[in-house]
Amino acid sequence: MYILLFTVAAYLIGSVSFGIITSKLFGLGDPRTYGSNNPGATNVLRSGNKTAAALTLLGDGFKGWLAIWLTQRYGPQFGLGDGSVALVAVAVFLGHLWPVFFRFAGGKGVATLFGILIGISLWLGLATIATWLIVAYAFRYSSLAALIASVFAPFFYALMEGPDMILLAIVVMSALLIYRHAKNIGNLLAGKESRIGAKKKSGN
Ligand code: G3P
Repeated sequence: MYILLFTVAAYLIGSVSFGIITSKLFGLGDPRTYGSNNPGATNVLRSGNKTAAALTLLGDGFKGWLAIWLTQRYGPQFGLGDGSVALVAVAVFLGHLWPVFFRFAGGKGVATLFGILIGISLWLGLATIATWLIVAYAFRYSSLAALIASVFAPFFYALMEGPDMILLAIVVMSALLIYRHAKNIGNLLAGKESRIGAKKKSGN
């Protein structure tokens, strides 16, 4: 019963799309209507507003971390353990991808996954973010960096902790993240993907 409460709360937390909220607060319009149409930090950056992009990154990351922290902090009082952390991780991630507050049109999950991974283990989060940074620095593609980091994340976790429910949750989130990047993968293969920091244009 309590696990249901934590899972629903995590989904609702994940449904708070900081890309859409900060863009509206900064008068940038809805990020789902320009650039890649994704309400994520990379696309908000295409508006030219670095503050809004940074707040999107921090907010979307924070909510992932928060859901995990709440479960780790208060879950044990209700008999909830690692299996619940795994379920909550997927729930907050699903909320970001398909947010109930924004007609189920959410983001691709990169910042939220980073926050979740930091919540699970600081070193896991840092290793995954470092992977993103290395690939982003080398190739200047946010999507490619996210795809490679998300492939590495389950391996990092498996090396640190071995197989368990949380590993399964990370594999599920990585698979969903890759699925949400289908258009980016097509653009990368066609040489049409826009690089980090490129300005607004539609349909890429
Ligand atoms: O944060 C999502 C990123 O990996 C790709 O974003 O806007 O280029 O599709 P975007």
